[in-house]
Amino acid sequence: MTPKPLVTLRTGRELRARVREWRASNLSVGLVPTMGALHEGHLALVRTALSTCDRVIVSLFVNPTQFGAGEDFAAYPRNEARDAALIAGEGAHVLFAPGVDEMFAEGEVTEVHVPGLDAVLEGAHRPGHFTGVATVVAKLLNLAQADHAFFGKKDYQQLQIIIRMVDDLCIPTEIHGVETVREKDGLALSSRNAYLTEQERAIAPALHATLMQMAEEFRAGGDGGRLELNARTRLTAAGFASVDYVAVVDAETLASLHVYDAMRPARILAAAKLGRARLIDNISVSSMENLPINPD
Ligand code: PAF
Repeated sequence: MTPKPLVTLRTGRELRARVREWRASNLSVGLVPTMGALHEGHLALVRTALSTCDRVIVSLFVNPTQFGAGEDFAAYPRNEARDAALIAGEGAHVLFAPGVDEMFAEGEVTEVHVPGLDAVLEGAHRPGHFTGVATVVAKLLNLAQADHAFFGKKDYQQLQIIIRMVDDLCIPTEIHGVETVREKDGLALSSRNAYLTEQERAIAPALHATLMQMAEEFRAGGDGGRLELNARTRLTAAGFASVDYVAVVDAETLASLHVYDAMRPARILAAAKLGRARLIDNISVSSMENLPINPD
């Protein structure tokens, strides 16, 4: 049977009507929220969604409320036709691509905050960012009424915030974290890698390499704080212009950790600037969870 072509919907009303039809036929629904500029990391989310759900919606919305002043909202790469072709190729069923007015009506005041989790690491460097993310994701989940939603572990803090929010607000969608897809040299795929020059691209894998080395040293008994200082030195020596943070934290609460405890899952997160790009990455401290995943 030839697959049905991808349908593009622009309004919440159309999306809900489509989901109602699917539900009437007992079909399960998955949502993959994106801001477009799709790469293999996003396609891995779509594939996981398709293997879990009968019908898959990919949303494409460059959410202005999660960009701070001076960030790259205007420059963020946009190419809906290319993104639509990519997800159609995977067999997704609906592309939900609303305009800003559809997602944020005049006079709206309600926001979703996830205090604590949204104030550290990325949140400390991008004030308001996670309020923008949590609010738009809550809206997308409410519009799609999906059984399952899929997010990349590349944005690990975002994933933890969404898990907390969905739990706290009793949103009946199961959240799945999907492993980061990396280039062969370890660089995590990101829409913002497009900003790197050839020379910067050669430096960029040092971020992942540094995190891997930290994980090994932490498991071997190194102090978390000391390892963070060493990693900053290593990254700037490799050519990064500055390091916003590099931190060993509890994998769920994101609280700082100094001492390795095999019974307490830990994660190492970092953000560093390289030319026009600000790269983020993270890995599990457990060596078992860091198996290489790359596009080939
Ligand atoms: O990870 C992203 O692309 C965005 O933060 C998300 C989850 C689509 C919300 O705008």
